[in-house]
Amino acid sequence: MDISETLRHRILNRRAGMSLDAEFYNTSEVHALDLDVIFGRHWIYAACDPELPEPGDCVTVEVGSNSILLLRGEDMEVRGFHNVCRHRGARLIDARSTTIGNIVCRYHGWTYDETGKLLFAEHMGAGFDKSCHGLKPVHVRSVSGLLFICLDEAPPADIEYLAQTLTPYIAPHDLANCKVAHVSELVEEGNWKLAMENNRECYHCDGNHPQLTVPLSEFGFGFSPDELDQRRSKDIRTYLETIESEHARWEALGLPSAEVEELSSRVTGFRTMRLPLMGAGESHTLDTRAASGKLLGAFNESRLGGLSVWTQPNSWHHFMSDHIVTFSALPLAPDKTLVRTVWLVHKDAVEGQDYKLDNLINVWMMTNQQDADLVRLAQLGTQEAAYEPGPYSGYTEPHVEKFCEWYIGRLASTLLEPRAHIAAE
Ligand code: FES
Ligand SMILES: [Fe+2]
Repeated sequence: MDISETLRHRILNRRAGMSLDAEFYNTSEVHALDLDVIFGRHWIYAACDPELPEPGDCVTVEVGSNSILLLRGEDMEVRGFHNVCRHRGARLIDARSTTIGNIVCRYHGWTYDETGKLLFAEHMGAGFDKSCHGLKPVHVRSVSGLLFICLDEAPPADIEYLAQTLTPYIAPHDLANCKVAHVSELVEEGNWKLAMENNRECYHCDGNHPQLTVPLSEFGFGFSPDELDQRRSKDIRTYLETIESEHARWEALGLPSAEVEELSSRVTGFRTMRLPLMGAGESHTLDTRAASGKLLGAFNESRLGGLSVWTQPNSWHHFMSDHIVTFSALPLAPDKTLVRTVWLVHKDAVEGQDYKLDNLINVWMMTNQQDADLVRLAQLGTQEAAYEPGPYSGYTEPHVEKFCEWYIGRLASTLLEPRAHIAAE
């Protein structure tokens, strides 16, 4: 796509270790570029298996101006389609989530099956070829029940590496046998990259997240203390020792725990690590005890820490012994982002009996709102004439830098060689 010389220059000459120039957060030009290059050509986290558990269940996801329909077929496969009728283009499913038989356009009744094939179109005459008017497909890749979509015809192939690496970490939490306990949709008043940058560090946690820092240590999110810090701080030493002993214990239980960090070294960037919870913590709750009495998968012990997974460009997830929380960030406008959070519990857990909803969702409901406030302030600041890129902390913000490196790298390689990400596999 055509972009201004100024933006081209900014992309190709970003200063490493510094926050991005203001126009990356504020302009419709960058917003359009982001939707094209990042959200139009990479794997985007869209939903998870328990959001559409049965054949006929579907969810819609808005990616920029594209509405994408995910539908589970009789064969239990989840397929993705552009949610656009091939007759005169009406939106087919006008709901966030519903259950259907065939896909029937309410305008003139064109009817498609679960594979997108046009089955029925009345009054179109003998020469009309139904086979040329099927729904336009969208790539879907399930990674142990996390559903990624790609709008590009030739998606980055290294999703396979991500899937291979993450599957042994995620699979024991048995997403397929979970159910949705709660969904929150929060519109943050900031650019999607500010929402992501905020997620990629915990520098802000101590001062802003009194609830989250009950179960979680600020040190698990890319903090790499220097020797001086380690000598000075008993908390840091305790944390590092805990990681070592807990990782050994969890690995012995068959749960991969070590950090894998590929945030900027892959086209489909990601990171994972099983993080210890504070004290004898079991889960992301205010008392750090498991929120649900029905543990996931085959777990019979609740002190399994929290497996965290982060994917570029738009998701993060926490898998505990008793519940899972998944998050996606989707750009709505240069200064607006939808953060969608889904809490999952064992499919047989009964609300009020096995878990109390408030207790399950409290920590992240409050944390999300606190983060939304910080993102709003960051957005306001980047709109000021006085804003200029500031330095990231090498100790606490390495993953913010990696996010920016990945993002600018994707833009740059597309500018220099439009199909570069395919060649890079
Ligand atoms: S627009 Fe869908 S049937 Fe006419
Ligand atoms: Fe935060």
